[in-house]
Amino acid sequence: MSGNERVIKEFRENNGKVGGVFEGVPLVLLTTAGRRTGRPHTTPVVRLRDGVRHLVFASNGGGPKHPEWYHNLLASPQVTMETGTDEGHVKPFATRAVVLEGEERDRLYERQCLVNPAFRDYRERTDRVIPVVALHPLDLAADSERNRMIGRQLVVHHDELRAELAEVRAAVAAARAGAAAPRPTPGLTRQLHRRCLTFCYGLQLHHTREDGSFTAFEQHFPHLAPVITRLREEHKAVEEALARLEQVLQASDEDLAGVGAELDRVLDGLEEHFAYEEAHLLPALGTPRPS
Ligand SMILES: [Fe+2]
Ligand SMILES: [Fe+2]
Repeated sequence: MSGNERVIKEFRENNGKVGGVFEGVPLVLLTTAGRRTGRPHTTPVVRLRDGVRHLVFASNGGGPKHPEWYHNLLASPQVTMETGTDEGHVKPFATRAVVLEGEERDRLYERQCLVNPAFRDYRERTDRVIPVVALHPLDLAADSERNRMIGRQLVVHHDELRAELAEVRAAVAAARAGAAAPRPTPGLTRQLHRRCLTFCYGLQLHHTREDGSFTAFEQHFPHLAPVITRLREEHKAVEEALARLEQVLQASDEDLAGVGAELDRVLDGLEEHFAYEEAHLLPALGTPRPS
């Protein structure tokens, strides 16, 4: 386990509190979309509250380069932020990242230096202007055009995932046929593995972002609480199933019978999950269900 992974684990197990060098420092976890792989990328960062916004600083400890998470959020500003709560456990929040500029950036960096003098050292160690990023939590309060747009985006993402899912099924069929042929085609399992990985990263990212937006759903649509609980549990079950599937794909190079059965179960469950999610979340957002 890397140092970052240990901090993340401790953070999640202790309502956002971490000992050692981070003792007493207010931290949050940011999950961004890896800009090359699309894979979710989680990292702990120092946070400063500013009204409803949360400020984070791409200091990289005063290093010469911007941290990966900063490049990632420039490419895709939808960021999931995890933070400790009064309820005693860490919660994820969907946020939109905005990079601050000029006087506002300078003033808020200065405020952070007053709170935590290490940020003065970081500034002195680097020629970079250390970026300051404001994270705006998703607010579903008003029955608005924005809510309807969020609903439409949900359907667009599900349709993309459904299309990829069909391609994964086709790759399984091709790999099975290749393996059963008199002269098996080499490399089909590897191709299937690659296809599955691309699909898994996309799905993991979709679920990570949804887990964050569910916190806003719970806040604004209390009647959906049992639905959200079920959806969160399904996300966990899917993640576990994908991890098992990955193991199977790595272990059985040419034995595709086991892969097929496991994969069919995961994919069938996913299609039901998408449908259930749309059936319950779209009416709350005021978005008409696709016919
Ligand atoms: Fe979901
Ligand atoms: Fe979804």
